[in-house]
Amino acid sequence: MTSDQFSRLRRLRRNSTLREMLSETRLSASDFIYPMFVVNGTGVRTPIEPMPGIDQMSVDVAVEEAQKAFDAGIKSVLLFGIPDEKDATGSRSSSPEEAVQQAAAAIKKASPETYVITDVCLCEYTDHGHCGIVTGNVVDNDATLPLLAETAVSHARAGADMVAPSAMMDGQVAAIRAALNDNGFTNTPIMGYSAKYASVFYGPFRIAAGSTPQFGDRRDYQMAPTQSREAMREIEADIDEGADLIMVKPALAYLDVVKEASMRFDTPIVAYNVSGEYSMIAAAGNAGWLDRERATLEVLTSIKRAGASLIITYSAIEAAGLLAKG
Ligand code: PBG
Repeated sequence: MTSDQFSRLRRLRRNSTLREMLSETRLSASDFIYPMFVVNGTGVRTPIEPMPGIDQMSVDVAVEEAQKAFDAGIKSVLLFGIPDEKDATGSRSSSPEEAVQQAAAAIKKASPETYVITDVCLCEYTDHGHCGIVTGNVVDNDATLPLLAETAVSHARAGADMVAPSAMMDGQVAAIRAALNDNGFTNTPIMGYSAKYASVFYGPFRIAAGSTPQFGDRRDYQMAPTQSREAMREIEADIDEGADLIMVKPALAYLDVVKEASMRFDTPIVAYNVSGEYSMIAAAGNAGWLDRERATLEVLTSIKRAGASLIITYSAIEAAGLLAKG
């Protein structure tokens, strides 16, 4: 008797109820964090060309959008701010008048249960587009830390539930933790963008945020795509500095890193399904080259299967709708 007479894996795939019962990976709207780009002004909703379906929004519009996400079952939003004016030190980043601080306050007021996370970085606020202060032609790590800390405190003060430093400066989590504690925000968690790669897949985001570096690139602070062990060291460093959540970014080209991190660390892992990953599916879907809806769910399922507890995704509202349809 040959082994295939004993083992027939297809027996368990013949019935859709059974397939559902045996599903190893379950995706739900509460897995998603929805990123939003907020700008100053009122009544603004400006489409971001390379990200069909995603817009820059003024605070009043962002409040409605966050409510729409919450009603779809998405518990959390991640806010990125785009200032009217940029300068060398990104000085608008910690202003209570800026869109992120205003949006954090307004969203918490209108929808108190929405969990508001804010991105803490300078690249959207600097005229040179780098994630920190530039001295000579180099981003100055230690000069940048106090600015990131001040920005994080301004977000917490405005009402943000959690802050997420994405500048890839060494020591940024520790600096922010200390500043939050000093200002009475001991209970505000930090989501570290721990293993953040220098990736081409951020292209559409940089168009959306006007944050393309005006000289050089980010390869001396973000990680090279060749690195996996180094990612584990980055994650370990963030955990040691007090990160409450750790992140791998981007998600799709780095699922091995998500998997490895999920096996090594007990800190919950967040994966960022970045702008370029969204744009590829949107573009191919719009061209009729693949089924956008199925591609979206397949990608999100794969990220969850790899070990992510939470997924930051521009597809959050669309995917929540698809999951509700069944
Ligand atoms: C800020 C930041 C970036 C992204 C998130 N935070 C851009 C970058 O590092 O260039 C990219 C997110 C995306 O592509 O969706 N540093």
